[in-house]
This record gives sequence, structure tokens and C-alpha cells, in this order.
Amino acid sequence: MNIFLIGSGGREHALAWKLAQSPNTHKLYAAPGNPGILQEAELADIDINDHGAVVRFCQMNQVELVVVGPEAPLVDGIADYLRAADLLVFGPDKAAAQLEGSKGFTKDLCARANIPTAKYARTSNAADALAALDDFAIPVVIKADGLAAGKGVIIAETREQAVDAINDMFGGGFGEAGAEVVVEEFLTGEEVSFFAITDGQTVVPFGTAQDHKRVGEGDTGPNTGGMGAYSPAPVLTEELQQRVMDEIIKPTVETLAAEGTPYSGVLFAGLMLTESGPQLIEYNARFGDPECQVLMMRLDSHLARIMIATARGELNDIPEPVFDPRSALTVVMAANGYPGSPEKGGKISNLREAEKDGVKIFHAGTAVVERSLVANGGRVLNVTALGKNATEAQAKVYAAVDKVDFDSGFCRRDIGWREVAREAGD
Ligand code: AMP
Ligand code: GLY
Repeated sequence: MNIFLIGSGGREHALAWKLAQSPNTHKLYAAPGNPGILQEAELADIDINDHGAVVRFCQMNQVELVVVGPEAPLVDGIADYLRAADLLVFGPDKAAAQLEGSKGFTKDLCARANIPTAKYARTSNAADALAALDDFAIPVVIKADGLAAGKGVIIAETREQAVDAINDMFGGGFGEAGAEVVVEEFLTGEEVSFFAITDGQTVVPFGTAQDHKRVGEGDTGPNTGGMGAYSPAPVLTEELQQRVMDEIIKPTVETLAAEGTPYSGVLFAGLMLTESGPQLIEYNARFGDPECQVLMMRLDSHLARIMIATARGELNDIPEPVFDPRSALTVVMAANGYPGSPEKGGKISNLREAEKDGVKIFHAGTAVVERSLVANGGRVLNVTALGKNATEAQAKVYAAVDKVDFDSGFCRRDIGWREVAREAGD
């Protein structure tokens, strides 16, 4: 089957790399793409925001399946549009993508389906949000309802900070995303990511991971899209994974199906492992970036087959996905200045040398200018390897990182520290 992949980050490079390995993939196209994706796919010169242009391209090139990498087009309804044109799509419709597009939608769904999550109040004006504060202890979490590029969550350590965040959100500081605000109980515990794939009926687990969202070592400094990740996350034991499936994932999928808005695609649950068990922090309607890179490193099944079966509603007819039991770890090399204003144009070289010994380097924000590879975004490269455990994978990755010439870039040197410490028995 011919497949079209939408996206341009490290997540999409990992998906392209894996899709290209599947015997079910005949020809792979992508847009907007990047120089790494170009190694695996033919890039289509179309504007992906022009949904009509995507349909026309697919029709002209006998594409049957479209895989949507990022959340924005899903929340915008691209899957509905493509399905109406008789294309298969990996990714949820607009109604189901509200799981990521509206925090209030997800909290209300959790309340209806009795899914463990932080206590909350959904508010549509500042007065109600300020009044709701009286029902919560400090710290308290203030969230803009809509998509805010990962910046819409404020952990308020004082009541004043909470009041400021509420006034800022309703004052337009987060644009449309702040038209509603969720006030939420602060949960404590270790955070972990759980993935599942569903066609709306059948749902299968699709791996665990932990990422590092802060820019600085020791998980300090501003939030980023993610500076590195590893999979599996052994803190999420088999028993806990079963609880996540039974108490969180399955009730979500069943409730959406029963309400006439079935969810199809990958469901990415951000969880807090609290003393009383796993609780849902948030849902994403797509793979994590860079979590996807470590999942793809470990996936032993054919990705295209899984995605085609999901899009057709036939997930029940194929074997459950199989993952390499070893650990995969990825380190993000970012451009100086990230997450503020990353420096563009910094030269990158020696990737081929660094990729020896099973290391894989996924491209995120790169470009080719005058035949040189240069930085073209905040997160630039994802240096990724497998090892018998996180410690070994981490050592392989940093040995490769040290070979990459990227003078205007940086990375964290402690990705995987929690797991490495556990493996050392600390
Ligand atoms: P997001 O920007 O939506 O990915 O979420 C930001 C981060 O805020 C999460 O990864 C958690 O670390 C934190 N967070 C969100 N909700 C809560 C909560 N109820 N309790 C504690 N931490 C939270
Ligand atoms: N790395 C976190 C995310 O993709 O949401």
C-alpha cells in the first residue's frame, strides 16, 4: 500500500524509518518532512494545512493510508476530512481528538467513566476559577483548556501564583486555549507514559516510556517538548500496566465508542504513579516526541500492518504488537537558545561515524543548506540506541553524541538517570 506521512519532527522520522521497513509499505510519501525523513520517503511539495491538496495528492499517487504525526491537524479535523474522501487514516477524528484538544473534555469524560484522575473544576470565567480555588490545597495546578504548545500548565506554588495564572489565561495570555480553565488538584508521584493503539473497539498496549521535559540536568529549568526518553519504563510493572488498561484506557475507549465518537489511532496517556495507584494526568492523541523514537527502536512488529489494521477497524485480526525486551534510550541534541530562541544554521557533521554500532540518529529540526546539514529548529537530532538495560543504552548514546560535530548545540548528559540509578541499586 502507498502511505502518506504528515509531520516533520524526530517522531515522524522514526515513524518513516519503521514504516519503510514494513513489507506492507509499497511507496512512502511525506510532508513537510525533513532531511532524515527524506532518506525514507519521497517528500510531497504540498501545504498540509490545505486538506484538499492532501486528498488530491493521495488520489494522484494511489495513496490509501495517511498517518498523521502531530496533534494540531488532528484537533483541526484533518482525519474527518480525509476519511470523507475515502482514505484510510491513522489518527482520531476531531471529536475524539478532543482528548488532547480540550483538557476539560477529558476531565469530564474521566468523571463520567470513573477514571482515576486529579480532582478538578472546569471554569469559563475568572470569577468561577478564583472561587474554585477555595476547594483546592496549595500547590494547585491551573490549565488552559486548549492546545498551548506544552505551555498551558502552571503549577502554582502559592495562591497568588494561582490567581495570576487564572487572570493571565482569561486575560488572553494563552489566546483561544485559555477561553476555559481547569483548576486541578496537585498529584505527587513518579510520572510515566503509557501508549495504546485502538481502532475504536479493540485496544492493545503499545509500550511504556519516561521522558525528561525540563531543559536542564537534574530536571531543572524551563519546560521543553522533551530532552530525551527511554523505554520501557520498568516502574510501570506488568501489574500496574494491567491496571492502567482496565481502569484508564479501556473505559476511555469504551465510553467514546458508546457516545458515538469512537477513538482510532494511538492513545498516549501521561500518568502519575500515586500512592493509591496510577492516575491520568493528560491524554495525547498522537505519539510522544521523543517517546516515539524509543518505541520504534523497540518495535519488532510491522508498523504499517498495525496502522492499516487500525485504520480499517481490524485490529482484532492481527497479532498483538511485539517489542524488543531490551531498553532504548534517546538523547535530544538541541540548538543553543532552546527552548527560548534557538540559533538557526549551526553546522552539523559526522553523523555517519556516530551512527555505527546500532546507533540511530533521527532528524528533528535539520535542513540542508548549500549541501551542508544545519540546525533548523529547537530540537535538532535524536541520538538513539538499544542496550541490555538503560545503563548500557545510555552509554552507547553518549558515546555517539560525543562523535557528532554540532558546535552550536547542546544536550542533557543525564537522560535516563532515574532508571540508571535504579539499575545501580541506589
Ligand atoms: P503538559 O504540558 O500538559 O504536558 O503537562 C505538564 C506537566 O505538568 C505534566 O507533565 C506534569 O508534570 C505536570 N502536571 C500536570 N497536571 C498535574 C497534576 N494534576 N499534578 C501534578 N503535576 C501535574
Ligand atoms: N514528550 C512529550 C510529548 O510528546 O508530549
